[in-house]
Amino acid sequence: MNPPAIAIDGPAASGKSTVARLVAERLGFTFINTGAMYRAVTWYLLEQGISPADREAVCAALPGIPLSFGKQGAVSCVLCDGRVLDAELTEESTNKNVSAVASIPEVRALLVAKQREYNRSEAVVMEGRDIGTVVFPDTPFKYFVTASEEVRAARRAAQGITDSIAERDRRDSQRACSPLVMASDARLVDTSDMTIAQVVDLIAQDIQDRMAAV
Ligand code: CDP
Repeated sequence: MNPPAIAIDGPAASGKSTVARLVAERLGFTFINTGAMYRAVTWYLLEQGISPADREAVCAALPGIPLSFGKQGAVSCVLCDGRVLDAELTEESTNKNVSAVASIPEVRALLVAKQREYNRSEAVVMEGRDIGTVVFPDTPFKYFVTASEEVRAARRAAQGITDSIAERDRRDSQRACSPLVMASDARLVDTSDMTIAQVVDLIAQDIQDRMAAV
């Protein structure tokens, strides 16, 4: 049996990244940001001049992609030719194209396999869109973190990032393959009127209570 996996899903700028990282720290689990993996593939394809709309070209490029998925301490990272990617992942062109790349089933199959690998040897808090529905459908620990559209837009603006989150959410929710949808057995956490600390306390406590009960 694999170690525990905590699934944290939700729309863009819902605060799930920060929450997932802090919950992982609290529990001593590894934090995996799957959005960074989709972003890295997107950045690389654009660098190579491959259009995300050209599914055939994307699929042809996938086997040779020089990306690897590792860890820095207890936090996931993506490396390209051995170099950790950072600012590349939130470039405007990456923001604009990531939903299109993430809608390609072959891209998802590749990354989901990598995501599951992280959990073979260690307990993880994994954050994304399809973690509770596709990556770890059997985990009992699923949280869907959201906030009103206004609150999410304000949070993203405060980060100084140009990003049309409403458009990305629409595409992520409407795609055929692994759309953004709350798993039927996930717990909904609306963070519109909560601080980060309150959300972290709520989720970490819930996990600890349930783990202690088994
Ligand atoms: O930080 P933010 O919530 O805005 O986005 P992210 O988690 O970095 O994810 C960027 C994009 O990757 C999303 O808009 C999705 O298109 C895609 N994604 C996905 O399809 N499945 C995941 N498990 C994670 C991200």
